[in-house]
Amino acid sequence: MEDIAWGTDAELTDQQFYNREQEITVLKSLLESEGSSPTIMVTGIRGIGKTVLLKKIRKELKDNYFTCYIDLSTTSSYQMGELTELGIMEHLYESFMEEYQDKKFFSTFKKLSKYFKTKDFGLGDILDAGGVPLPVVKTSDNYKKLSSFVLDLPQVIYEEHKDQINGTILFIDEFQVLKDLGEKLDAFLWFLRSVIQSQKNVTYVFSGSITSSDSFISKIAGSEGAFGGRMLNVEIHSFNKDTVSDYLKEKSPSLIFDESGFERFYNCTKGIPFYVNTFAKLLEKDTTLNEEKVKDEFQRTLPYLAIHLINQWSRLTLQEQEIITRLLNGPLRRKDISGKMGVTSGSLSKPLNKLQDIELIKLKEHHYGISEPILEAWLKKEYSEKKVYPFRSI
Ligand SMILES: Nc1ncnc2c1ncn2[C@@H]1O[C@H](COP(=O)(O)OP(=O)(O)OP(=O)(O)O)[C@@H](O)[C@H]1O
Ligand SMILES: [Mg+2]
Repeated sequence: MEDIAWGTDAELTDQQFYNREQEITVLKSLLESEGSSPTIMVTGIRGIGKTVLLKKIRKELKDNYFTCYIDLSTTSSYQMGELTELGIMEHLYESFMEEYQDKKFFSTFKKLSKYFKTKDFGLGDILDAGGVPLPVVKTSDNYKKLSSFVLDLPQVIYEEHKDQINGTILFIDEFQVLKDLGEKLDAFLWFLRSVIQSQKNVTYVFSGSITSSDSFISKIAGSEGAFGGRMLNVEIHSFNKDTVSDYLKEKSPSLIFDESGFERFYNCTKGIPFYVNTFAKLLEKDTTLNEEKVKDEFQRTLPYLAIHLINQWSRLTLQEQEIITRLLNGPLRRKDISGKMGVTSGSLSKPLNKLQDIELIKLKEHHYGISEPILEAWLKKEYSEKKVYPFRSI
């Protein structure tokens, strides 16, 4: 029976989840080690399987720990166009309270209210939201109070429920969203670090589509960074050829490749689980797939494989889109890009930084290049069919 998840599924069944034994062992042993609470950063490119891995680990530890999974990209202020520190705190708080209710820790409601008071929120500042106290923040002065309150909570919750749980584990996903804080990012990271450092029983697992070469990572974990030297980085890699081959044989036996067909499949997907799954699900079944066939099918299914990237593409400015199309024939120096575009080199700083931030291009030996082969393939296909790039047709 076919048991392959869609590329957009965030939570997989145990049957669908494949491989990653080593990563699970490492992460679980870090999380379960008593008397220490390391800060962990799980990194890897888009679609590699960070989120499903975090959720699987959370499921396995859920009963013995107070666990929260927080996706920063669903913070409402981020969705509304401007990520704020206040928005993050509210989001964290809501997630804590959700788990609090799930765990049925109501007995401590009173204690929690008391705790609110010691933090000097006026009584009027606290709403009773369905049995859960909810602080209301009105002024920016209160923001500081709220954030130290919210970030202290996980430790407080642990202290109150020591007999039921071994600790608190917070999974904070889509961490790269914090780049949107702009100038406030540094202060926020240092603040976070100061809180985290003082908590003995709370473990933070950050994750996001960031790679170790990203400058954002050095802001966080580099020697000058807020978490310099104290963060353990676990990088998630793509599946190798043998893993993909075994995986498909087991989970999708009706896919029949000849040798060159499989080579081509691996080449198209690069072993990235999102692409492996999406392509495998869309490929024709019960027929021999040779190299030519896989090539054709890849072209046919590109719009589905590239779905995230097409979304991202459609949100770019015209100038950013143009930069990308200029790089389709290979990496270029900055002055060559500006020359082709007829603009000054200086005017490209902002768009080039933005495109690097969202990982669509990368800089290597003074040359900018496209870092998403699937986006590249989709743009080329669009051009060959329509003789124009899809600058604004979507
Ligand atoms: N271990 C796995 N076994 C089977 N399928 C997987 C596995 N890991 C990932 N996948 C597939 O890849 C898809 C993408 O995974 P996931 O959302 O976890 O990636 P991600 O690294 O969090 O990506 P992003 O950076 O975009 O958030 C999943 O929906 C699933 O279909
Ligand atoms: Mg994810």
